[in-house]
Amino acid sequence: MNTVINLVNRSFSSDATGRDWAYTASLGFAALGISYFIATKVSELGFLCAKKKSKGNWVNPEVKKEDAKVVDSCDIEDIGEKKVFCRCWRSALFPYCDGAHNKHNLETGDNVGPLIIGRKKSN
Ligand code: FES
Repeated sequence: MNTVINLVNRSFSSDATGRDWAYTASLGFAALGISYFIATKVSELGFLCAKKKSKGNWVNPEVKKEDAKVVDSCDIEDIGEKKVFCRCWRSALFPYCDGAHNKHNLETGDNVGPLIIGRKKSN
């Protein structure tokens, strides 16, 4: 460590030679390279963590992805006789079912279906 400090001190002294500057510059570039390598590895670790949350593992592949959380509400008065709500997250009419779960089930072997809310039939 003292050698490095002496080299840097000598480079900034009035009698510094081109060779002193070359050594110091080499040392600086080496330090930058090592820093860059470490920063890259650290960011890769972060990237790997984010990769674990890749689209393939998401329940919701594309509905309102710009939102931190997808929350929908529906007033009971608006339900009428029956409303069919999507639970597969593939509906273009989300939160309502448009039948996209059928294609999803065929492609994946999954068995998801909608939530149907309706009024009891009065006798
Ligand atoms: S489209 Fe998603 S449950 Fe029907």
